[in-house]
Amino acid sequence: MENELNKRDHTGVQDFVLLEDFRDPTAFVENLRKRFSANLIYTYIGPVLVSVNPYQNFDIYNEEYVHIYRNVNFYELPPHIFAIADAAYRSMRGDNRNQCVLISGESGAGKTEASKKILQYIAASSKHMKDVEQVKDRLLQSNPILEAFGNAKTNRNDNSSRFGKYMDIQFDFKGVPVGGHILNYLLEKSRVVHHSDGERNFHIFYQLIAGGTPLLLSKLKLTKDAENYHYLTQGKSVRVDALNDHKDFSHVKHALDVCDFTTQEQEALFSIVASVLHLGNIQFEENEDGLANISDFTPVENISQLLGCPEGVLQSALQNKTIEAKGEKMKSPLNKDQALYARDALAKGVYDRLFTWIVNKVNDSLNSRKRMKCSLMGLLDIYGFEIFGVNSFEQFCINYCNEKLQQLFIELTLKSEQEEYQREGIAWEPVEYFNNKIICDLVEGKPVGMIAIMDEECLRPGDPTDSTFLEKLNINLGQHPHYFSHSSATDTAARRSIGRDEFRLLHFAGEVTYSIQGFLDKNNDSLFRDLKEAMSQTSNKITSMCFPASELQDKKRPNTASTQFKNSLAQLMEILMSKEPSYVRCIKPNDYKRSDLFDDRIVHHQVKYLGLMENLRVRRAGFAYRRPYDIFLNRYKSLCPDTWPHYDGTAKEGVEMLVNHLQYSNDDYRLGKTKLFIRFPRVLFATEDAFQIRKHDLATMVQARYRGFAQKKKYLTMKLAAIMLQSHWRKVAAQRLLKRRKQAAERLRGFIKGFIHRLEPECDENKHFIQYTKYNYLMKLKETLPKTVLDKTWPSAPQLLQKTSQLLRNLCMRNLTLCYVKSVTPARKAQMEEKVVAESLFKGKKENYPGSVKEMFADTLLDSTQQNMLCSIFDAKVKQQDEKVQYSAPVTKFDRHGYKSRKRVLVLTDKHLYLLDEKSYLLKDKLPYQQITGVLSSSLSDGLCVITINMDDNGSKENLDDTLDSKGDLILHSDRLIEVITKTVIHGNKSEAFQVISEASITHGISGGKKGYIEFTRGQTSAVKKAKNGNLCVMVAQ
Ligand SMILES: Nc1ncnc2c1ncn2[C@@H]1O[C@H](COP(=O)(O)OP(=O)(O)OP(=O)(O)O)[C@@H](O)[C@H]1O
Ligand SMILES: [Mg+2]
Repeated sequence: MENELNKRDHTGVQDFVLLEDFRDPTAFVENLRKRFSANLIYTYIGPVLVSVNPYQNFDIYNEEYVHIYRNVNFYELPPHIFAIADAAYRSMRGDNRNQCVLISGESGAGKTEASKKILQYIAASSKHMKDVEQVKDRLLQSNPILEAFGNAKTNRNDNSSRFGKYMDIQFDFKGVPVGGHILNYLLEKSRVVHHSDGERNFHIFYQLIAGGTPLLLSKLKLTKDAENYHYLTQGKSVRVDALNDHKDFSHVKHALDVCDFTTQEQEALFSIVASVLHLGNIQFEENEDGLANISDFTPVENISQLLGCPEGVLQSALQNKTIEAKGEKMKSPLNKDQALYARDALAKGVYDRLFTWIVNKVNDSLNSRKRMKCSLMGLLDIYGFEIFGVNSFEQFCINYCNEKLQQLFIELTLKSEQEEYQREGIAWEPVEYFNNKIICDLVEGKPVGMIAIMDEECLRPGDPTDSTFLEKLNINLGQHPHYFSHSSATDTAARRSIGRDEFRLLHFAGEVTYSIQGFLDKNNDSLFRDLKEAMSQTSNKITSMCFPASELQDKKRPNTASTQFKNSLAQLMEILMSKEPSYVRCIKPNDYKRSDLFDDRIVHHQVKYLGLMENLRVRRAGFAYRRPYDIFLNRYKSLCPDTWPHYDGTAKEGVEMLVNHLQYSNDDYRLGKTKLFIRFPRVLFATEDAFQIRKHDLATMVQARYRGFAQKKKYLTMKLAAIMLQSHWRKVAAQRLLKRRKQAAERLRGFIKGFIHRLEPECDENKHFIQYTKYNYLMKLKETLPKTVLDKTWPSAPQLLQKTSQLLRNLCMRNLTLCYVKSVTPARKAQMEEKVVAESLFKGKKENYPGSVKEMFADTLLDSTQQNMLCSIFDAKVKQQDEKVQYSAPVTKFDRHGYKSRKRVLVLTDKHLYLLDEKSYLLKDKLPYQQITGVLSSSLSDGLCVITINMDDNGSKENLDDTLDSKGDLILHSDRLIEVITKTVIHGNKSEAFQVISEASITHGISGGKKGYIEFTRGQTSAVKKAKNGNLCVMVAQ
């Protein structure tokens, strides 16, 4: 309704209770018209749905609409048949109450369509599961079957239901449809043999002829032309534009398959349909005795073949009537009229029983296989109130049925309304409405109801006729305010309008004049025994089942048709009363099936007889609007600061606070126990308008809140995710650490074990340890290897690698040596050789030897000037041509006599030892090497040496200098004595002549065979000088 409130100005009101002028039928119809023009066919009167037949298809029943209306509060969306279905479905599930939807309205108003929409909604909104799909399929497919056999084109409706139908849909505890059950009411079987102009027989006949394959038709001995069949041509409207018999037949075939009709059953079924057509074609002619003779036997042959019935039996049954009198059976031949009557009675009887069989068969297929307690939703689609040109027994029953339904509607709506007022503690204001109970009583009352009188007349001995029945009616009911007849009518105009064989009932929906003709006969519903017998003997499974032989034995007279109908209606009322009803009131906008015509007069009429105004008045009964407190408060609480955003007290208190704040006047509203009642629509509209304005502000606030909430939610989700990630990561890290520790412990244990077994031959225990030790040792060794040959350090090796260490050490040394050797130049090599000689001469013998080791030996100790002098003087003048200077150095020479020191240059060639004057470079001494007998040196660290000379050697005497010869051994001093002596020994090849004298003095020869002495002492400073004793004293610093 709230939704409707928003739209109220555009398309009238969506709920009539909001109609300001609720007592005016014109305003009511105007509202319907307005909405009809806007293609809005549904309007509510409170919970009742008023539906106007649009006579055109709107796309408002698709999946999307099913979805929109599913689980939404009734008033929240525009009125729709789906809303009714959904509310009933939810109430069934929520309150656990069985439901029924009562669909009423006159013929063509859209009842059957509405019931199909409800079924469609139920099927579409329940879950899709394989076995459920099958049930739903069968529920939906039961429609085309029953419509084919039970619907026909009438002048009011191309697809008029000619039977009443109540269908229970069964749901399991989950709300899933699991089965169904159909009750059928009074098929208009007279249509099989007769229908008015412009009308047709039941659809199935035309569908079979139009849609049956040539093979099927030839089997059924039918021709393709409906015009050939007497029963199909009375209305002269075999073809109907709005219907496609050919296509519909294939739908029916499919539906029969879905609903489990076997091929044999279908064959039997169509054989019966065809037999009815053949039956209609049986013609009789009168013989001389006035008795009926069959004029053409072909149809009879066809029937006996199709139904499997002996031809003679059928023939005889169609022409005779067996009478039982005083225990004796007598065959009485029929006259032509009687035979035609018997033929038609058989056709009607067969078709009627076939229809009941079909309903039972459909019920079998809908029967829930699961044995459980089911919730039920009933759909009542029953023929609407109808007035034809000639109204007979059928219309009487149909209109009686509608009276009963109206009665139920009044009872339930009024009662529930009154109950609500009582429940809510609000004073009930009586509502004026027409209660049609009086008409119901007129029809069904005992002992003077119409049905009772009719039954009595049927059973009465003698010769009851329709006229005698009419007389009885007139006598008994002539004074009834709703019964009129020619004789009982008070004014002439009325008398004229009613024929002598007619009576008129003033129904709640209008006056209907009935023709009395056929009433008794139809009420008796008798079928001659012979025909029943013939049918019971058929081999056709359906006819033999529908006409059981046991029926013939049963002596008890069956109930009349009207009593049966009355009883079944009473049962139906009981069923409906036990359920929670919902109402759909259908209205047709015009009599011409036009989508663009809204005939006020016709609609007016329907509104009146459907009692919609009463319904509205009752609903309004002073209050246009009512809502449970919580719902009202929830919607409008934002309009009052005390109730917004939450009200802590009860909903009723909240609403009280709210209406005070909104300044409702005392007359505007009432507070019930659970609901608020608002008297005038304008009060509600004002509230709603205020709410619409407030809604915008609220929307902004809600949006902001929601955004905040959404962000917070997002943040919390992320935080949670982060915490989870962290904890997972910690777990993973801890697991890894544990694994590493385990591995480490394992490694350590292995290491210790390896250490324990390290000296044993390689085995599993020590393998890794040994490998590690080797690796470790080698790595350490790599870092600490000696870099030079002289470096004698070598890292200590573990015990198990001692041998390896030794081998490696040798290898290393060899390698270093090799490298070293490779790096030595020839000059260096010569130097080394000289050093080696020096070592052999002095090592361990002379004190200053270690100090000399590091000094490199040179080829000359002269500076460049001296060398030039040596070159220019000595090379040119002194040395021999082939002589080669090997060494030169400045030395000090001490005279053998007097030990005077003289500066000299020592030159060693490959042949001689020369001493040159330091300044002039003139030769002072020249000594061939072979004359050198000894080279003497002290063991101290002095620089003095004595070169002893052999004076006797003849070979060299001639080379000797005179002075040298006379002077004796040479006493030389050099700061680089080791070098000088080594060079002399090498070039003179005198290594064996060298001697270190460890004594304190050395004796040297002086010319003339004399001897001199050189003393060696240690003192404060180093000095060489002549001592007082005449000896040369060499003092060596300590
Ligand atoms: N909601 C609808 N949308 C479109 N067309 C509709 C609707 N309701 C009814 N009709 C049209 O009106 C025709 C008559 O409707 P329907 O057969 O339901 O009437 P009825 O009330 O069952 O009549 P009867 O009492 O004769 O059986 C349908 O065949 C269909 O063409
Ligand atoms: Mg119908």
